[in-house]
Amino acid sequence: MNVVVPVASTRITLRVNGASTTVDGSCAATLADLLRDGCGLTGVKIGCEAGDCGACTVLLDGEQVCACLVPAGHTAGRAVTTVEARDNPLLDQLRRAFLAHAAAQCGACTPGMLMAATDCLQKNPKPSHQEIADALGGVLCRCTGYVKIVEAVHAVAHGEQPRVAQAHIGMSVGRSIPRVDGWAKVSGTDLFGADDAPRDCLWVRVIRSRHERAAFSFGDLASWRAAHPGIEAVLTQADIPGENRFGIFASTRDQPVFAEGETRFRGEAVAAVVGTRAAVEAVRDVDFPVTWIPLEPLRAIDRAVAENARAIHATHPDNVLTRGYLNRGDVTVGHSQGSVTAEGEFETAFVEHAYIEPEAGWARLNTNGVMEIHACTQAPAMDRESVAIILGVPEERVRIVPTACGGGFGGKLDVSVQPLLAVAAWVTKKPARMIYTRTESMASTTKRHPSHIRARASAMKDGRLTAFEMRADFNTGAYASWGPTVANRVPVHATGPYKIPHVRNRTRAIYTNDTPAGAFRGFGVPQAAIAGETLMDDLAERIGMDRWDFRRLNAIGHGDVTPTGQTLHASAGLPQCLDALKIDWEQAMWEAQMHNATRAERYRRGVGVACMWYGCGNTSLSNPSKMRITLDRDGKLVFWNGAVDIGQGSSTVLLQIASDELGLPVEDFEFVIGDTALTPDAGKTSASRQTFVSGKAAMLAARDIRRKIIRQANVGTRARLSLRGAELHVQDGDARRVIDLRVLAGAEEFALVGEGVYDPPTTMLDENGQGVPYATYGFGAQIAEVEVDMRLGGVKVLHVAAAHDVGRAINPQLVEGQIHGGIAQGLGLALMEEFIPGRTENLHDYLIPTVGDMPRVTVRLIEDREPEGPFGAKGVGEPALIATAPAILGAIRHATGVTMRRVPVLPHRLWEAMRFHRVGHV
Ligand code: FES
Repeated sequence: MNVVVPVASTRITLRVNGASTTVDGSCAATLADLLRDGCGLTGVKIGCEAGDCGACTVLLDGEQVCACLVPAGHTAGRAVTTVEARDNPLLDQLRRAFLAHAAAQCGACTPGMLMAATDCLQKNPKPSHQEIADALGGVLCRCTGYVKIVEAVHAVAHGEQPRVAQAHIGMSVGRSIPRVDGWAKVSGTDLFGADDAPRDCLWVRVIRSRHERAAFSFGDLASWRAAHPGIEAVLTQADIPGENRFGIFASTRDQPVFAEGETRFRGEAVAAVVGTRAAVEAVRDVDFPVTWIPLEPLRAIDRAVAENARAIHATHPDNVLTRGYLNRGDVTVGHSQGSVTAEGEFETAFVEHAYIEPEAGWARLNTNGVMEIHACTQAPAMDRESVAIILGVPEERVRIVPTACGGGFGGKLDVSVQPLLAVAAWVTKKPARMIYTRTESMASTTKRHPSHIRARASAMKDGRLTAFEMRADFNTGAYASWGPTVANRVPVHATGPYKIPHVRNRTRAIYTNDTPAGAFRGFGVPQAAIAGETLMDDLAERIGMDRWDFRRLNAIGHGDVTPTGQTLHASAGLPQCLDALKIDWEQAMWEAQMHNATRAERYRRGVGVACMWYGCGNTSLSNPSKMRITLDRDGKLVFWNGAVDIGQGSSTVLLQIASDELGLPVEDFEFVIGDTALTPDAGKTSASRQTFVSGKAAMLAARDIRRKIIRQANVGTRARLSLRGAELHVQDGDARRVIDLRVLAGAEEFALVGEGVYDPPTTMLDENGQGVPYATYGFGAQIAEVEVDMRLGGVKVLHVAAAHDVGRAINPQLVEGQIHGGIAQGLGLALMEEFIPGRTENLHDYLIPTVGDMPRVTVRLIEDREPEGPFGAKGVGEPALIATAPAILGAIRHATGVTMRRVPVLPHRLWEAMRFHRVGHV
């Protein structure tokens, strides 16, 4: 939130979207505030308040500007155009193109992108791809990888009519129909956590530790509050009505809402002030009555597990939160059977999710005693459980209503604003809202686990792998969050998708005084893949074998056994993925060779290849999803879907599945999504599980209601259905039936209800990590082509070719979008992203890929149908990311001869490695 600086004149008159508008300028420091708060134009999104993300881009006198940087007082008499503008044919064309090309995923960047695109085409009606990229360069997108955005703008510029796939009855699966929530995203009407709240809300602001570790004590809070008119409450741990703890698993619920006497990481909450917006914004941290005594922090894995290291939590004297273990065969024997062995140490950094929407929401205590929380989330049912424990009430007294979610990637699986809002509303008995600043979001929420990995692998002369072992330590930061999941998922996946008879993997999640690490697209598997794939390159090189051939030889496939002893009976399409990329590999290798042979020394090209696999859903844990479809007495067909769509498109994909299985068109459905008071629990949106698990539940719910219809009509199973008001028409050959839904419903609201529950079949892992941890796996392979500046160490990724086995692409365009976005995040992991607490807590110092960083991308979809999945589908959200970074590292090595074992490969690191460790490893 911005501190309000009253402008000279409190009334500002300007033209907004073509209409003369006068607003109270005293409420607005910036144009963004003026538009959002003064005009109600919440299509102007706030992502950083510093001009770094561009989400608030609008046109000011026809030029794109970041509205958060323009003082409100400078806008008098000027013309502003926002995404809400009507009667703007160019903007309208762009909206339709964004819809047709699936250029909006979560939609948080979409208004800014649309305005930047409008600016671009107004100035240059026929821009090239490069000119479009240049024009959009000020707006960050974390979801799409920019590919479809640029395509959409290019299509408008070159007069291409948007081609929208039609979803015919029973034939929507496999078609790229536009996302069902798309119009809200391109029109600026999608409401995120910060976009809507009751007008009488109090505001909440958190007082946070600026020390990695500190003891603290409060002064006279009552007197301080009395001296600050407008502050209605100061909240501390003493105000928590239930348990001052939250976390993912019951056994590791270790994070306090407000710290108790000592903070364990920089950014931890100790108190919150609640009051009018002006009063809350006027509070200066330095004036708040808290005394800090900084203490020596433990900030690295090695120090935290050193002998005599202080325990960060009394429950874990050695600072080891949890251990993971897998053993198959005899790894000593396996190494001895190999002709060559490769080994190495690897290090990866904290990575920030950098979703464009910072956490936000509001809460109120309803008169029936139910705490109602509206906030962005990936896991409404888990949020409800956490808040109930914190308030000390049954879960039925908490209702979570998810707002639109402006990206998550795992970072919104943990609660953030929810407990704070609940306690504020509980104590004051008034509605309360809060919006995290970008810095607050980055400093206080979870990250990708930094890792320190040692790995060793052996292979025979003919290339067949014989042994693999890994020891991986993950820095879980001050609190557990998803640390146990990372420690348990990595041993299963660490080998990569290869046939290896002898395997031993050991992991630890270790407490430190760093920012808590949690879930981030892959749960540790991307880090492990960097180590494993580098060793695959090492082995291939030592044997003298082509890297693609080496992987193809060892690729796991149908009938093969995984390191957990699971036989892959179906859907294991890695060989097909590699085969699909063979042509890309040969062409890229030839082009790199030609380039390096004929061009100057300075820029060398390299090509890398990497494979991945990823289990869909929880590891050996029950993982159910429940879906409901109702047909009411008036013919209203409603899909009650508890799976939150965080931009990946699950609302659309699940609807396609339900529509085809039921036999009614997607247009007939209304839907309710994620509201815990209305929808069954579909589980969290994570682990690439919604298409596979919730998709199957949706299919079963549709099958259930169709079965009831068929029985009611007494017709054959192939009957065709159509809804006409309160009549359901059923036709089976010459037999026609009309079901009067009002008669069927009688006194009930619903005439028909279908429910489906699906829990993927898995088994517990034994003490050696043997069992069936996942019902199915996604597989993929990617090839990266890079150009390295040999003088300065810069790396430019030129092209990524990605082949992924998705079982069945329910909506191919959305699947491609996931792969594009995953590649962008993998590129960031490899080359630029490194979160350092206290130093990179904004989007200026913490860099994520811009449109200018994205390479050309080729996607090849492999559909090796999964019998367990809905219409054969599996998940793709996390698989899309995992192979990218190792493929890029392999390409850097190919270009330079240097193996980089620490990411991100920043230019100075590569420069140093090329000069001083040319044959060694950094
Ligand atoms: Fe661009 Fe989500 S669609 S940030």
